[in-house]
Amino acid sequence: MSDENNQELSHIRGIRSYVLRQGHMTRLQSEALKNLMPIWGIEYQQNNIDLNEIFSSEHPKILEIGFGMGQTTFEMAKNRPDIDYLGVEIHGPGVGNLLHLIDKEKLTNIRVIRHDAVEVIDSMLEDDVLSGIHIYFPDPWHKKRHHKRRLIQPPFIHKLVPKLKSGGYIHLATDWEDYAYQMLDVLSKEQNLVNSFETFAPRPDYRPVTKFELRGKKLGHDVWDIIFTKNN
Ligand SMILES: C[S@@+](CC[C@H](N)C(=O)[O-])C[C@H]1O[C@@H](n2cnc3c(N)ncnc32)[C@H](O)[C@@H]1O
Repeated sequence: MSDENNQELSHIRGIRSYVLRQGHMTRLQSEALKNLMPIWGIEYQQNNIDLNEIFSSEHPKILEIGFGMGQTTFEMAKNRPDIDYLGVEIHGPGVGNLLHLIDKEKLTNIRVIRHDAVEVIDSMLEDDVLSGIHIYFPDPWHKKRHHKRRLIQPPFIHKLVPKLKSGGYIHLATDWEDYAYQMLDVLSKEQNLVNSFETFAPRPDYRPVTKFELRGKKLGHDVWDIIFTKNN
């Protein structure tokens, strides 16, 4: 069986890109989840949602998958009130943290979904609605036997691309070299995507250094950014 078919099967068998850790939740995060999710959160549902209606705006929409504790998402949204950010994250403490930050600064251009991004893409997003997709430091699953859990694989990217408008971009970053080359390979093989740079991209000003990136840097890791644009 080819690698690609194998990966396709992995997704069908429901292999996840995350393991739900219990994780300590502070009181602030759990209160934010309880009180602010009804305001800034969107419940997972099996129907398409209308992003312009939800944000009450026709600003460009950026999807961020796996925002962790949400600090980066928060900073980007604060810097660009003319862009709407939809963050999807499965980890409760991180979702609570971002909700708290949104409320503290009274930002109106972030909405949050606490669910598996693969299912959100499958059932909630219409085609041709996103101007950009950010996936920063997805779990590297660095042991070979765990590579099947990596998010950036052909079947997932294949689902993502139709959600982008023409001219929209996918921006990935990682501090694992072999994953960086995997990302480059997967995106290069996707029809309708063109590399905006020759190979890897310099970190653009709009992307703040993330929490996981800092952790990687402390371990002496390099960082690779990858930016591809949808060409039709
Ligand atoms: C290594 S962390 C990086 C967090 C953040 N982007 C950063 O750079 O600090 C990866 C995050 O992706 C989330 N994640 C992994 N798979 C996911 C999925 N299928 N749907 C939603 N979130 C996911 C994890 O819960 C985790 O918080």
